[in-house]
Amino acid sequence: LGSVISKQEQQEVVNVAHRGASGHAPENTMSAFHKGVEMKADYIEIDVQMTKDGELVVIHDTTVDRTTNGTGDVGDLTFEEIRELDAGSWFGEGYAGEKVPTFEEILDTFRGKVGILIELKAPELYPGIEEKVADALTERNMERPNNDKIIIQSFNHESMKISKELLPSIPHGVLAGMSWADVTEEQLAEFATYADYFNPNMNIVTHELVSNVHEAGMKIFAYTSRTQEQADRLFQLNVDGIVSDFPEHVYYHPVKNK
Ligand code: G3P
Ligand code: CA
Repeated sequence: LGSVISKQEQQEVVNVAHRGASGHAPENTMSAFHKGVEMKADYIEIDVQMTKDGELVVIHDTTVDRTTNGTGDVGDLTFEEIRELDAGSWFGEGYAGEKVPTFEEILDTFRGKVGILIELKAPELYPGIEEKVADALTERNMERPNNDKIIIQSFNHESMKISKELLPSIPHGVLAGMSWADVTEEQLAEFATYADYFNPNMNIVTHELVSNVHEAGMKIFAYTSRTQEQADRLFQLNVDGIVSDFPEHVYYHPVKNK
C-alpha cells in the first residue's frame, strides 16, 4: 500500500511521448501518436523533415531505411514515393500499412487534444524548413501565444534562432547531446536569448544542471527515458519534463521533494 499514490500526491512533470508512445507502437506514426494521447501524455514529440518536393513529413532518421520498407534519403524521395511506404510492419504485422505522416496532418489531428513538441530534424539538410513550419502553424492561427501547446526544438541551434525570429510567441528549445555535459552558465545565458527550453540527453542531467537551466530562465525536458528507473531518476532531479517511449513510466512517482 505504501506505493499507492493519491492524485494530489502525484508530481507535476510534463509527460512527453517520444515519437509518440513509441514503446508501444511504431515511432512517428498515427498509431503511436494516438496511443500517446490515449495514455494521457501531455505532449507528443515529432521529428519533422522535408521531401524532395517540399512536403513536411514526420520521420526520425534522415533515410527511410530503418522504419519503412523503402530505402533512400528522405530528401531524395518525393512525397508520393514516401507516402507509398509501409512505416509500421517493421514494428509488428498488426501495424502493416501505417504511413509516414505529414506535419500538417499531425497539426490538424492533434491540435487542442495534446501538446506537440516539434523537433526540426537535421534542418541543415532542408533549407527553408523553418519558414515552411512557420507557414503551416500561421495558416492555422497556431503561432499565437498560449493558443495551443506547441514547442519547437532542434539540435541545430542556428535553426532555432531563425525559427524564433519567425515565430516569436512560440516557445523554442535547444537540444543538447552528450557533448554539452559541461555546459557553462554563460552558454546557458546565451541560449536563453532565443530559447525557452534547454532539453538535454538524460545522461548529462544533474541537480546542478537543472538549477543552472532554471537560473537562466529556461525549462528543462530530458530525453529519452526507456525504463521506470530512468524516469524516476529524472523526476528526482526535478526536471520539468520527461521525454519517454513509455508514458506510463512518468506518472508513477513518489511525491516530489520540494
Ligand atoms: O525530444 C528529444 C529527442 O527526441 C531527441 O533525440 O534522436 O530521439 O530525436 P531523438
Ligand atoms: Ca526527436
